Amino acid sequence: MLIAPSILSADFANLERDLHRIAGADWAHVDVMDYHFVPNLTLGLPVVEALQRVSPIPLDCHLMIDDPDRWAPAYAEAGAESVTFHIEATADPRKLVKDLHAAGSKACMALKPGTAFAPYEELLDVVDMVLVMTVEPGFGGQSFMADQMPKVREVREAINRRGGQIRIEVDGGVSASTIEQCAEAGADVFVAGSAVYGADNAAASIDQLRDLATACAGHA
Ligand code: DX5
Ligand code: ZN
Repeated sequence: MLIAPSILSADFANLERDLHRIAGADWAHVDVMDYHFVPNLTLGLPVVEALQRVSPIPLDCHLMIDDPDRWAPAYAEAGAESVTFHIEATADPRKLVKDLHAAGSKACMALKPGTAFAPYEELLDVVDMVLVMTVEPGFGGQSFMADQMPKVREVREAINRRGGQIRIEVDGGVSASTIEQCAEAGADVFVAGSAVYGADNAAASIDQLRDLATACAGHA
């Protein structure tokens, strides 16, 4: 069970300080947006390179960008532990996974809420993680979409059927009141932005989320 707070909800004028506020988490989730794939703009490679120099925990880069085939490998070269591309934006996912692995990161494919998993099941042969979005990508602080839980179950069943060590990440609206259903459905990496950075005590909220998810694991 990995907790990955999203720094989208951090203070962008104090990113180093806010990375240290989540030092007890497993990964720092970094949302890269380009004004094209999503109607929002956040940060890009130079900022990720700077974060990599000061982060106490590994970076989990979620690229909500067009043409990840071209742009994503540089995030792996910058030292990100995991790089997530959107399957909707990718021309050649198998080549991209190969390029990410060659550049030294894990490779994750993300599915928007309206994107079905079945057409991409064969990619479980190569990816390290599947991100099931539980909001429309683009903004923090949106409401959790419980209607994505059947997709999480479907991915988990496919992984179990095929064997292998592939993680399932959920992202969007994950909080103390929604994390249990994600864990029950089979997720094992949990992104939480507003739930962690909006809490008075970020460290305590990370521990609470991890405890809730751990208590639910295997109840599927
Ligand atoms: C949304 C981003 C999320 C976002 C989650 O496009 O991918 O990572 O930061 O924020 P919360 O947890 O507030 O929904
Ligand atoms: Zn994200």
